[in-house]
Amino acid sequence: MSAVAERIGVGGVTTTLRAREYIASVLDSEWYSPGKWCARFEREWAALHDRAFAVFVNSGTSALHVAIAALKEKHGWQTGYKVIIPALTFVASVNVVLANRLKPVFADIDPYYGIDLSKPPPPDTVAVMPVHINGQQCSMELVSAYAEMYDLRIVEDSCQCVAAPYKGKTAWGEVSCYSTYACHHVTTGVGGFAATDDADLAVLIRSLANHGRDGIPRTPSDVPSRRFRFERQGYSYRASEFEAAVGCAQLPDLRTELQRRREMADFFAETLSDLPLVLPRQRPGAQWWPMFYPVLTPYRDRHEALLEENGVETRRFLPLDVATNWARYTGTVPEMRELLTYARPPMDAYPQEPQQPPKPSNTTRTYIRKNVAGKTADSKQAMMQKMMTIVVVTRYLFFLSEE
Ligand SMILES: Cc1ncc(COP(=O)(O)O)c(C=O)c1O
Repeated sequence: MSAVAERIGVGGVTTTLRAREYIASVLDSEWYSPGKWCARFEREWAALHDRAFAVFVNSGTSALHVAIAALKEKHGWQTGYKVIIPALTFVASVNVVLANRLKPVFADIDPYYGIDLSKPPPPDTVAVMPVHINGQQCSMELVSAYAEMYDLRIVEDSCQCVAAPYKGKTAWGEVSCYSTYACHHVTTGVGGFAATDDADLAVLIRSLANHGRDGIPRTPSDVPSRRFRFERQGYSYRASEFEAAVGCAQLPDLRTELQRRREMADFFAETLSDLPLVLPRQRPGAQWWPMFYPVLTPYRDRHEALLEENGVETRRFLPLDVATNWARYTGTVPEMRELLTYARPPMDAYPQEPQQPPKPSNTTRTYIRKNVAGKTADSKQAMMQKMMTIVVVTRYLFFLSEE
């Protein structure tokens, strides 16, 4: 095993002078719970995503949980109704459906890792949750057409996708949810948003995230009578002024950060293009701001070991099979083990300097060739055979919970 000088982790953040100033301002204000910083972060996030409203909560999962709960209340969905989810996603997308006592139904994915809706929904399906994996949207015009045809609501899991329009639109669903957890495009430690254009839905979401409290008077005269009234069962999902201040401090540098990530991805694409790997691609019509750099390879274990030995932290790309607890609810555990490899090249090998995106060096090129993929002698054809297996596996998963 080689000696590792420095470990490259999956997430990282740079504390700027601006962030220090904003945090100092929260401390000086002696008001830590949701206040003017949360309101400002919400306004700026909504504007960034062309949404009328954005509710800031303590995680992307919380945002999805209350967004679905709000849709359930608004549309009168009954317990056991179904929500279509792609078979490739983070566990939270499924957990929030189960937490709302709805039933997940798994759909296939397309070559860009977005949801592929090529089969009609089973009876009692009320919603579809496209998951915008790794910084780019799904084929949302197809998802929208499908939803319209079958009268489904769209709740977007945009936890990995920030300010990335597809065919000119940044958000399509009735509600779209984001995460600002570590290693996401904007990182506030913990945090998330539920964004919508529907004023009543925004009120409902905020209420659900705040113990079911009627905390959003629509006219000033409502204030005294509605100040401490609880209208529904809710949750305690509020975020604090600290997260909001850190988030506000990052937004002015967001474009640079997104460009930096993209430059890294383009560099990896160029460097790794002649190796027997399937690399992530930009969907036609989409803006792609990568969050990770997932590499598809039949030699996952070998690449994983190489990266780890060389100080690069790896992640398997959202394998749903890790969530064995679902067996209790769905009656089966998705067999996603062979689906994808997430071997993350050193996206964070460079110091985060938002003002000056770093240029890839020859040393990095050699490093990646030698350690990430260069030791793979097997042919591209073998790789493609594996791809076929992958397709079979994901097809099998379609509407799994119906079996
Ligand atoms: C696709 C997806 N959905 C939901 C979440 C949950 O976000 P959080 O960790 O902020 O709860 C994540 C987190 O990475 C995610 O990647």
